[in-house]
Amino acid sequence: MTVTVAIGAQFGDEGKGHIVDHLSSEADLTVRFQGGPNAGHTIRIGDRTVILHQLPAGILHSRCTAVCGPGMVIDPFGLTEEIREVREKGLFLGRLVLSERCHVILPHHRLQDAWEEGLRGKDALGTTGRGIGPAYMDRVGRMGVRLADLKRPEILGPKLELLYRAKPYLAGHPDLPPKERLLTDLLRVGNELSAHIQPTESLLWQAVARDDEVLLEGAQSTLLDIDFGTYPFLTSSHGTSAGALTGTGLPPQSVSEVLGVLKAYATRVGGGPFPTEAKGADGDRLREKGGERGATTGRPRRCGWLDLVLLRYAVHLNGMTQLAVTKVDVLGGEPQVPVAVAYHLPDGRESTLEPPALAEDLALVEPIWRFLPGWEEFTPTLRERIAREGHYALPRELRHFLSFVSRETGVPVTRVGYGPSREETLELPLGVLESARSLAPWPGGSS
Ligand code: IMP
Repeated sequence: MTVTVAIGAQFGDEGKGHIVDHLSSEADLTVRFQGGPNAGHTIRIGDRTVILHQLPAGILHSRCTAVCGPGMVIDPFGLTEEIREVREKGLFLGRLVLSERCHVILPHHRLQDAWEEGLRGKDALGTTGRGIGPAYMDRVGRMGVRLADLKRPEILGPKLELLYRAKPYLAGHPDLPPKERLLTDLLRVGNELSAHIQPTESLLWQAVARDDEVLLEGAQSTLLDIDFGTYPFLTSSHGTSAGALTGTGLPPQSVSEVLGVLKAYATRVGGGPFPTEAKGADGDRLREKGGERGATTGRPRRCGWLDLVLLRYAVHLNGMTQLAVTKVDVLGGEPQVPVAVAYHLPDGRESTLEPPALAEDLALVEPIWRFLPGWEEFTPTLRERIAREGHYALPRELRHFLSFVSRETGVPVTRVGYGPSREETLELPLGVLESARSLAPWPGGSS
């Protein structure tokens, strides 16, 4: 039995969509367990590109059941639109199941998101504007509407009534529909999605009992996790492996592998500290070559270099057992590859493992750099050779980089992504790079 949790190890956009799509081809069940339409998984299949915002990647595979787990917040109107788009591309191949416990994103939440961002002024978080934070706020405030409510007018009506009363500052906003209209719209969309809305806990328990291949797909990543990310510059859910449990209802002992997905460099969308950010020409080059624009909002991503302090932190928080390194082709042609191996902290200490809790302090750390030899450009010839010969054809310096990452984290790199298409992911059998498991999980030095 394998239950694999795939988690982003950085600030999101690590190419999880790509890796998760690759893993989904062998999965019986894939489950999203947190976040909502703030995510954007870009997947290229032949000459078709599909961006999944709320649908789990398993929907692209005919043998797969794709589940939106209870930890998600769902925009039902956006979801019906997304289902239509994926169907039109002929890619809606799996079976879709939506947990009746998912919370619903309402127009209130988007308006509140924008309003709160306005209040923050120059310290705005740079949210995706999808109403994610406020939807989770109403969830913990026990005022939320759930998908189960959309099938029950007698329950939904009073809940909407309470929400309209609880948010008087939104009253009269031109984009807030009258309560009666929203009620009608929600019942209509609930009816449209009705066949998919079900209990999901026992579905997952049974899959585990049958030894099915189950993939739990994280969306926003470790450094955007509400507790362990760069507070307050993060999202409002748990993008760590612990979130995969509360967001699905699976118990801890059911998880067999935790796969951390990272880029060979680093990116961040929105505000917040980014110690290894490359400003100027280096950042522009990475952005250009890596096509670094947000899949959800189209915003240019901030770009920089791999940060091993944050990566080690992510490895330990999530209990990562394997790593997938994506977009190694983007660094092809760089004469050298900078990697931050430790920080000088503002108080004079050094850290190799744990970032400061305050975003203000993290913004002031000074990375301690190590410069690794760069590898050759990923020309069409090199790509063909890799397609033919597999990992044997990877450039020597790139193998060195990958084994360096393994050694520094204590976790084997088992997958490498070297391009946007489905085929451009390589599996690295254990031991192909030097064995990493036996090495100390972090180098000497304080943390
Ligand atoms: P929210 O999730 O829309 O509230 O946004 C909060 C922060 O998380 C912002 O900085 C967003 O840019 C970031 N964020 C949310 N979802 C993603 C994602 O899927 N990839 C990268 N950044 C994200």
